[in-house]
Amino acid sequence: MSEAEDGARASLRARIAVVCMIVIVAGLMIWNPPELFLWIKAVHVIAVISWMAGLVYLPRLFVYHSDSEPGSEKSETFKVMEDRLFRIIMRPAMVVSWILGLWLAWQGFGFVGWWLWLKIAAVFALTGVHEYFGGALKAFASDRREKTARYWRMINEAPTLLMIFIVIMVIVKPF
Ligand code: HEM
Repeated sequence: MSEAEDGARASLRARIAVVCMIVIVAGLMIWNPPELFLWIKAVHVIAVISWMAGLVYLPRLFVYHSDSEPGSEKSETFKVMEDRLFRIIMRPAMVVSWILGLWLAWQGFGFVGWWLWLKIAAVFALTGVHEYFGGALKAFASDRREKTARYWRMINEAPTLLMIFIVIMVIVKPF
């Protein structure tokens, strides 16, 4: 199978996954079971895990990509891996996390609570990191190496630290 065909199949699979997710959420809303809030929270956590997996793995790929020779087979492979991870997993997972998170905040808490606003602020920061990685990905795609492998190794910690803060806010709700 050619690279282009493989890419087209991966995009199709991602679209099917997003459509399935929309159908499941719409079905749950129409069915309106007593545990609707918990069902939506479950889908929210699934999306969050997928998004976080990408946010942690992408800078790892950037570390290895930075060390590879521009134009080499290795470098071209990293470009494909980074693009697929970002477009097919991270972006849809981020959108689903946001939409369902906002629904939970509205339905469950009427947007009231310091813990909630601190969590939303940290999710804004996480979204900023996501967009920053998107920009770096474009630079790598045109063989521009703007940062060192050491830099990417350090930046790798940012999504993890934000995730720790977010999870403490939503579970402990200390404020
Ligand atoms: C702006 C986007 C988001 C909003 C508005 C939001 C809001 C919420 C709300 C209101 C709940 C229900 C809390 C409860 O029932 O006690 C929830 C659950 C949860 N969220 Fe988010 N969330 C967002 C994004 C995220 C992100 C990015 C993460 C992780 C990095 C995350 C992790 C979780 C977890 C682990 C739970 C389950 C907590 C529990 O059951 O006790 N959320 N979210």
